[in-house]
Amino acid sequence: MKFLLELKELSKINADCEVIFVIDKNLKHKWVYDKKDLKTVDFKGSVEEVAFLPHQHKIYVGTKLEHEELRIASAKVINSIKKAKYKSIKIGIYSDKETLSANIKAMVEGFILGVYNFDKYKSEKEKLHLKNIIFAFEDYNNNKLDADLINKAIQEGEIRATSTNLVRDVVNSMPDELTPKEMAKIALKLAKDNNLECKIEDEKFLAKNGMNAFLAVSRASIHPPRLIHLTYKPKNAKAKVAIIGKGLTYDSGGLSLKPGSYMVTMKSDKSGGSAVLGIMNAISKLGIDIEVHGIIGATENMIGGDAFKPDDVLIAKNGKSIEIRNTDAEGRLVLADCLCYAQDELNPDYIIDIATLTGACVVAVGEYTSGVMGYSDKLKSKMLKASKKSGELVAELPFNRYLPKLLKSNVADISNISSSGYGGAITAGLFLSEFIKEENKDKWLHLDIAGPAYVEKAWGYNPYGASGAGVRVVIDWLESLK
Ligand code: BES
Ligand code: ZN
Ligand code: ZN
Repeated sequence: MKFLLELKELSKINADCEVIFVIDKNLKHKWVYDKKDLKTVDFKGSVEEVAFLPHQHKIYVGTKLEHEELRIASAKVINSIKKAKYKSIKIGIYSDKETLSANIKAMVEGFILGVYNFDKYKSEKEKLHLKNIIFAFEDYNNNKLDADLINKAIQEGEIRATSTNLVRDVVNSMPDELTPKEMAKIALKLAKDNNLECKIEDEKFLAKNGMNAFLAVSRASIHPPRLIHLTYKPKNAKAKVAIIGKGLTYDSGGLSLKPGSYMVTMKSDKSGGSAVLGIMNAISKLGIDIEVHGIIGATENMIGGDAFKPDDVLIAKNGKSIEIRNTDAEGRLVLADCLCYAQDELNPDYIIDIATLTGACVVAVGEYTSGVMGYSDKLKSKMLKASKKSGELVAELPFNRYLPKLLKSNVADISNISSSGYGGAITAGLFLSEFIKEENKDKWLHLDIAGPAYVEKAWGYNPYGASGAGVRVVIDWLESLK
């Protein structure tokens, strides 16, 4: 799919179909040609409303001049005409110069994200006929638009969306195929394509470096764990950031085994680590001026004679002892050691971890929203702003003085689960904070993407399956750090 810019009148452009974005229900606009037909199908131009008029080769969609609305409208359009076999579509653009680039970028994202379809395991593949999406600017001369600026916006939208789709592909791939070793292979290829450094460490490295919590989680799997460390190092970097991702290529729960219906979709427990791959791909292509280290703890959580157990006590990389009371709270064990690794090796200015960490986060904020936690109000507010900008929903979950007490253990420094059934997303975040050094507390954010990472009923521009949650919001967050 290619996006083209045409600086001429809409009517002079050849395309198989025309797309009309109806803004704020304004059905009186000169580009709303088919007023009668639209009335017949009772099209009112409400947001997310679509009217496809195949005889006229026109499609109308209701929207507003807001980025997230434009993303969703674009996704609706492309899904409604997919089966019509059009090779090209054209869109008349009439937003003003100041907001134009960002609007175009949002539309490009919406088209690419909306048309995504995972058919790797289907015998019959859906073929996309659409080749060209043409943006037409009639008012080019009057408005003195900067074509370079618009083309740059198109390119940025493409990078952000294709990087998100790359993550979707990784997460959607089945666990027997997408093992920790395979994830490392993908990272190596991504590093080669983007000129990044890439270190892959194995279980011997984990043992040698005292990463016993990570190692214990991996023990019962026939697929050995991998610590993946990607580095993007631009000249004149303004800051150094470590991004740590939970890469559970499968979470069966371990000996605290998940019930059958909770286990399906747990291939998606690698969503945080996969998001790290997408972020690294995007930022190197966008050329942002921040040094970024992407660290992925990739492993399976399985059962077997060698499995770690409830009642075990594990010593993490920073020397803290952890009482295991539930082997299904494994993500925090892997992340604990990876957070220590990032701090010991890199001395970063900012640290963020991304994880499908708790079902409790989904209960707290719903399946469309990620939870953000941390000590620095400034960093959290930057994340909430990035959420607005990217359209990815993020809500803050607050730490307080009482919740940490729920992690007290009678036999070790800390328990891996809370003694209360409430507030589980936050106590998981507080568990992670035990592995953040005092001097780094204000540099750290935790993002729980358990809700939006995997979509069981399509919404917005997310079809069934992996959404690629975390990629676009973290890119926007990174860009706000400078
Ligand atoms: N990977 C799960 C969390 C999860 C649940 C992600 C649903 C996506 C959808 C995590 O490892 C887990 O099992 N957490 C437990 C923690 C509990 C044992 C304290 C949970 O949320 O139930
Ligand atoms: Zn688990
Ligand atoms: Zn998990």
